[in-house]
Amino acid sequence: MAKSWVNSAERVGADLHLELSGTGGRRAALIAALREAVRDGRLAPGTRLPPYRSLAADLGVARNTVADAYAELVAEGWLTARQGSGTRVADRAAPLPRAGRASPTAPPRTRTSTPAKRTRTSAPTPPAHASSPTAPAHVRAPARTPPRPPLHNLRQGTPDASAFPRAAWLASYRRALQQAPNEVFGPGDPAGRVELREALAEYLARARGVRTDADRIVVCSGFAHALRLLFGGGVLRGPLAVEAYGLPFHRELLTAAGVRTVPLPLDEHGARVDRLGRERAVLLTPAHQFPTGGPLHAERRAAVIDWARARGGVVLEDDYDGEFRYDRKPVGAVQGLDPERVVLLGSVSKSLSPAVRLGWMVLPERYVEGVLAAKGEREAWASVLDQLSLADFLASGSYDRHVRRMRQRYRSRRDRLVAALAAQAPHVEVTGVAAGLHAVLRLPPGTERSAVKAAAWQGVALDGLAGFRHPEADMEAADGLVVGYATPAEHAYEAALGALCRGLPGAL
Ligand SMILES: Cc1ncc(COP(=O)(O)O)c(C=O)c1O
Repeated sequence: MAKSWVNSAERVGADLHLELSGTGGRRAALIAALREAVRDGRLAPGTRLPPYRSLAADLGVARNTVADAYAELVAEGWLTARQGSGTRVADRAAPLPRAGRASPTAPPRTRTSTPAKRTRTSAPTPPAHASSPTAPAHVRAPARTPPRPPLHNLRQGTPDASAFPRAAWLASYRRALQQAPNEVFGPGDPAGRVELREALAEYLARARGVRTDADRIVVCSGFAHALRLLFGGGVLRGPLAVEAYGLPFHRELLTAAGVRTVPLPLDEHGARVDRLGRERAVLLTPAHQFPTGGPLHAERRAAVIDWARARGGVVLEDDYDGEFRYDRKPVGAVQGLDPERVVLLGSVSKSLSPAVRLGWMVLPERYVEGVLAAKGEREAWASVLDQLSLADFLASGSYDRHVRRMRQRYRSRRDRLVAALAAQAPHVEVTGVAAGLHAVLRLPPGTERSAVKAAAWQGVALDGLAGFRHPEADMEAADGLVVGYATPAEHAYEAALGALCRGLPGAL
């Protein structure tokens, strides 16, 4: 067994520990060790590998052994070799997800073959309508997965991470830190910092028509945390009516908290709130139904408040897409209709980043104590320094500026998506695009699964509508693709659109 610390000249301090083990010979051991190093991220995409001679000397193997190993990994797609720039880790060789967790660099929840599983004799078959420029028909053989990890992440749920307002956030953080009194560095108040609650009360009133004061706002780490506090903390109990299409993660979280969810059918006016029955609470996405799109109709907004008043029920308003609307009049929060019957839940996950983990609950007065009790004596989730930074970010106008800038950017992306589809896949109906960061492409019945596969064949990660459907939904299933257009960085968007269109059934 040979061991070596490989020193990449280009990444000072980025030593790589290669361990050659196994019984298959040194060449096979070196191939396995390099593959493993790429797969687990120790060798990042673009990293230049040492010249044959120096790695051979480090490991005590023949120069040809290293040359052969590199050549094999180039053939497999892990490495690239170019005259003059040496051998590098391929850009597409994304690290494998760790067991049980999605890799931060690979789009989550995608099942694809990894380069390691790719062999030249097992090229998979794309779905019937896929037209891959990289896979001539004669090399295709039966298999279930596309040939490489996705290159384009068009999953909904992530804003453009490259647009995080680093400088403005840093400025807010610095100001917050400079001005913070010493007591900030003690245990945090479970209600959240008053500076943030006041800034939120002002912002939500101004931008979303919310009626509240700082005392009825409790800071949390996002929407999912708010659900856990409300139901796991015993403030609310099921059964809970939910929209027939929604995020499975939230349904699973509720089920784990012992809450039965009852699906409400959807139509062109949003959730059928006339179907509410004996439930105690209803969870809605009134600003933009998630994921099918479209606001809750004004009559339904009024009707759900009537239901809550008559039945002593409560409306949970998920204001996820409230800030990103493009070409329709702003729709204020339902909460403004009756602050004692609605819990408004929001977070910065879409406006800033889901990594910040900051959210808010605007509560009817009677729930404030229960939610605070569920949080415990001290703030255990939301960093007080981040809370103060967000307070400054809101109060200084940086939040408004950022949202405005992003609204323009996302609108332009939405327009480019619609135009590309009109030109290249004109029979595909695009819906749900007046707000939010995703579109729903309606497909003919029975074609969704093959369309998701065809997209994967083009290197595109996206979800079909079926994955969002409540298992007990009492409405006709619709075939469609949920296309998140915010996720790719600006420079990668055009290529992502091209790949998406190529994979669509009947693309021109
Ligand atoms: C429908 C919906 N609401 C809210 C959220 C925000 O969740 P959180 O604030 O926990 O990040 C998401 C995120 O995926 C979502 O899909």
